[in-house]
Amino acid sequence: MAARSVPMKNLPLRTGTVSWRARVALFVLTILAVITVVVTNALLTDRFTENTRNRAELRLALYSGNLLSELRRNAIVPQLLSRDPALIGALASGDFSNSTQRLISFVDEIGAASLMLLDRDGRAVAATDRNRLGSMHRSDPYFIDAIRSNETVFTNMRREVGSFVFAYSRRVEQQGGTLGVIVVEVDLAKFERAWAGISDAVLVTDSEGTIILASEPRWRGQTEEAALAAEPAISAIQRAIQATADWSALPADAYVEGEAVMRMQSRIPFRGWMMTSFTTYDSVRERVNGVLALEIMGFAILLALAFYALSRKTALRMALFQRESAELRALNMRLQREIAERERVQETLAVAEQTLEQSSKLAALGEMSAAVSHELNQPLAAMKTYLAGARLLLQRNRPEEALSSFQRIDDLIRRMGTITHQLKSYARKGGSALTPVNMGDALNSALSMMEPQLKQRQIRISRAVPSQPVMVLGDRVRIEQVMINLLRNAIDATGAVDDPEVDIILAAGETATLTVRDNGLGIEDLDQLFEPFYTTKAAGEGVGLGLAISSGIVNQLGGRLTARNAEGRGAVFEMRLPILMDDADEIEAAE
Ligand SMILES: Nc1ncnc2c1ncn2[C@@H]1O[C@H](COP(=O)(O)OP(=O)(O)OP(=O)(O)O)[C@@H](O)[C@H]1O
Ligand SMILES: [Mg+2]
Repeated sequence: MAARSVPMKNLPLRTGTVSWRARVALFVLTILAVITVVVTNALLTDRFTENTRNRAELRLALYSGNLLSELRRNAIVPQLLSRDPALIGALASGDFSNSTQRLISFVDEIGAASLMLLDRDGRAVAATDRNRLGSMHRSDPYFIDAIRSNETVFTNMRREVGSFVFAYSRRVEQQGGTLGVIVVEVDLAKFERAWAGISDAVLVTDSEGTIILASEPRWRGQTEEAALAAEPAISAIQRAIQATADWSALPADAYVEGEAVMRMQSRIPFRGWMMTSFTTYDSVRERVNGVLALEIMGFAILLALAFYALSRKTALRMALFQRESAELRALNMRLQREIAERERVQETLAVAEQTLEQSSKLAALGEMSAAVSHELNQPLAAMKTYLAGARLLLQRNRPEEALSSFQRIDDLIRRMGTITHQLKSYARKGGSALTPVNMGDALNSALSMMEPQLKQRQIRISRAVPSQPVMVLGDRVRIEQVMINLLRNAIDATGAVDDPEVDIILAAGETATLTVRDNGLGIEDLDQLFEPFYTTKAAGEGVGLGLAISSGIVNQLGGRLTARNAEGRGAVFEMRLPILMDDADEIEAAE
């Protein structure tokens, strides 16, 4: 037998790949991430640059303000000291024993870097720095300028490499005569030190463009251009960072290498000085990068989640598909088994059909012979009774009467011959010819056949037959068979009742109707009544063929055999056969 495969249901096989919708979503997410990062980068860079610029400007303003206030504060000192009687007295008398002490007592209050008193020749006669006592300053600009001027003069002078001296000086005079010069050195170096603590690089140029103050010491004394050439702002800043303790934990390279530098300049309203600061963008980049890193991380997490969800979905779908396919496989196998089973059954059926075809003829023959033997029972029983009667009559020497019994037996034998003839005619496949039958006569002969049984029991039989003969077209013997079967059943049914009674009514209307009614126990099962071999009787008393044969006969004659339970007690059987009108009646009916 060829194995057949059942085609599987066409499942959507999307399990292995990501759906286009998911792809689009991922693509959009990536694009969104890129756009967000780019936009944020631009916005934050602008914003933080602006911020840094503002802070640098603010710092610049603060630095220059500090510088200016320091200068202004010191500017007044020479004027005050030039009027100090003790100093004037000392210069006039040439006794400077207390002068240095006096200057030292002032210097802290003033907050100046140093104070120095020069005599008329430019010799330091008193100084807060005792090492300078006796040093000559005749050629120093602050002495020369002060001698020439009536005002306080400001000098910035390069002392050694990289260090500038900022000094206010003024002539000390008495009655128009010059006694000496008082020099106040302003401490601006402290600002440099303060600036060096910040990550910016700061420088101050004088009106000639020379760097006089700078957070980067190597710049001092040069022009900005030269200074930057020698020491780029970037490395100056880098060193400034390295000098800053707070930053030392971080590698300086990361902040400044290859970074652009922001240059800011502001004017200090003092002798044309300018202050310039350099700030790296590193802090800007640093902060922007921080935010960008956060954003990128966020998107990465989002993507990871998306992928996780997708893979989960795919896994679930995969599991579902596997389960479905397993179910389908099982189903397929079951179907194949079923198909194999069916095929086997079909083959068996074909064989059975063949056998049946052969045996059905035999079965019909068997059915027929069963019916025939069933119907022979009644005449045989009657014959037995008549024979017994005849023997009795002969013994009593009444041969005439015995002769009539023999006549009856002869009739019965003829009848039995007719019944067996049916079997022969069936075998020839031809029905016996139908003849007009008088129902009343048929009923009479049926009753006479029943006579021996009826005599055995006290059964009241009432018979109502119309005066006109009731004619049907049929087979007399077979019609009588039906009547005998109905009567026998009625007699059997009334076996247990006290007052057995059977009514037989023959009526002619549209059909010829024979009604057999008894007052027995009634029909138990109306549905199975006409089934062959359905019987409620004990074995030997009945085989259940009577009604099956009878209804077969009535149907063959184009009539109907029906049964019902009577309203009071007992059963009612009705045999209806198409009525046969005689010629005269037919003509009347036609007219
Ligand atoms: N007049 C009736 N009253 C009650 N029950 C009946 C009557 N006629 C038939 N039956 C029921 O119908 C059954 C079938 O009747 P049927 O004549 O076919 O077979 P049977 O009488 O049992 O046996 P047999 O083959 O000898 O006639 C009976 O066994 C009985 O139960
Ligand atoms: Mg019967």
